[in-house]
This record gives sequence, C-alpha cells and structure tokens, in this order.
Amino acid sequence: MPVMTPGTHIDNGDTATPGQSRCGVSVDRGLAEDQVRYWDDTYRAHPRMYGEQPSVPAVYAAGVFHRAGVTEVLELGAGHGRDAVYLAGEGFTVHALDVSAAALEEVRTAAEERGVAHRVRTVVHDVREPLPLPEASVDAVYAHMLLCMALSTKQIRAVVDQIRRVLRPGGVFIYTVRHTGDAHYRTGIAHGDDIFEQGGFAVHFLSRDLVEDLATGWTLHEVHPFEEGELPRRLWRITQSLPR
Ligand SMILES: C[S@@+](CC[C@H](N)C(=O)[O-])C[C@H]1O[C@@H](n2cnc3c(N)ncnc32)[C@H](O)[C@@H]1O
Repeated sequence: MPVMTPGTHIDNGDTATPGQSRCGVSVDRGLAEDQVRYWDDTYRAHPRMYGEQPSVPAVYAAGVFHRAGVTEVLELGAGHGRDAVYLAGEGFTVHALDVSAAALEEVRTAAEERGVAHRVRTVVHDVREPLPLPEASVDAVYAHMLLCMALSTKQIRAVVDQIRRVLRPGGVFIYTVRHTGDAHYRTGIAHGDDIFEQGGFAVHFLSRDLVEDLATGWTLHEVHPFEEGELPRRLWRITQSLPR
C-alpha cells in the first residue's frame, strides 16, 4: 500500500498544534491528493477489500428507503460497491459515486455479475467539488464512511449542503462516520481539524456537536452507535430527512 508523506498537513497559515481542532480550514491539497491516490491504489491491489456482503447500515438503509417509497438513491463514497449492488438488488436505482475510478470499475463488474447493471450508474467524482446532479433529483442519499474521510469541517458542511440541494423535499439522508470515541482518535499523524492518519489512511473523527450541527434545518431521527471491523471502528449511523 502507498505510504503518505508524513509532512502533509493543513496549510492554512495558522499555528495550531497538530491534533487541535481547527474548524473551517481547508484540508491541504497534498493530503487530499495523496488520499485520492491512496484509495485508487488500494482498490487496484485489493479489488473487493470490504467483501461482497452488504454492510449492516446498508441493510438498515434499504428498510428505511422502502418504507419511505424511495426509488432513486445517491451513494457517496460507494467504494467497490458492496452496498450499491445490494441496494440495486433491492430494486432501487443507484448512482454510485466515488473518487476512485478503480473502485467504480469493480462496482460495474459486480453489478453485471448480479444482474443489476441496469439499475447502477457509476460517477467518478470528488465530493470536494459540487455534486454533478440536478437540484431535487434523488429521493435518498446514503454514505457509509465518506464524511469521515480527509475532509475539513468546512468541506463536510459543503457536502451536506450539496446533499440538501440534490435531495427532493422529504428526502432521506443516512450516513455513517467514525467519531471521537474511536480508538484511533488522536493517534497517528495529526493533520488538524480532528483528522488523524494511520497507515496511510486519513480519517476525520466527527464530534457529536458537529453531527448535530450538520442536521440544522433537517429532522434528525437517530444517531445510532455501532462498531465495524476488527479494530473495531466505532461509528455513528445518522438518519435525517428534509422537510416536505
Ligand atoms: C472507508 S471507504 C468506504 C467505502 C464503502 N462506502 C464501503 O463501506 O464499502 C471510503 C470511500 O470514500 C472514497 N472517498 C474518499 N475521499 C473521497 C472524496 N473526496 N470524494 C469521493 N469519494 C471519496 C474512497 O475512495 C472510498 O471508496
């Protein structure tokens, strides 16, 4: 796996100690570009690294989406598609978006294998840029471990604003993030703004305050704690919806 340059950091000219929370800064371009390369190289080396079964949050999301009468889902940070392909199998049309072209090649292969390719559209896109979908064009947005990537607080807020733009009134947003109760919080290389890097993998650990702030103007239905993987990663699964 590629190793990040330890010197990459948030370069906003301030003097905060690495590891201190500095809301509103932009993640250094070098860190962000390194992470894009990191993900693409990782998926080329380990094409189905998260396995072929859907994640637990995806199964939960499908239930919520069925009950809400959802037809079109935007998945952000879809990776190699364990969840996108599952959601397509559940009958939803899925726009699977990720910054890694290698991951999305795998999504298309998996969708063909499962006979759901007609319900999966892949979009190579970096969420630091505005989402390439029209206003009010999807019923639901799903993002498992995307908002806790190498994004500054300011960039996370901008992504949530974009999600609000592309969702129809009453639309549902289900996302998961690693949080400040995670064992890796404040370990490894500190990049500022609660972003820490372990083994080349940069994570923004979200605080409860930030999660609640991101729900301003939404109805916040639930912040559900759960664990995933061997570490285990400690996450929250957040369900929120837009007013009709
Ligand atoms: C922790 S993985 C989760 C993948 C998938 N959701 C899953 O659970 O199987 C995070 C994903 O976000 C993608 N990603 C990271 N930064 C991104 C960005 N700025 N824009 C879009 N995707 C990004 C990575 O390529 C990776 O596929």
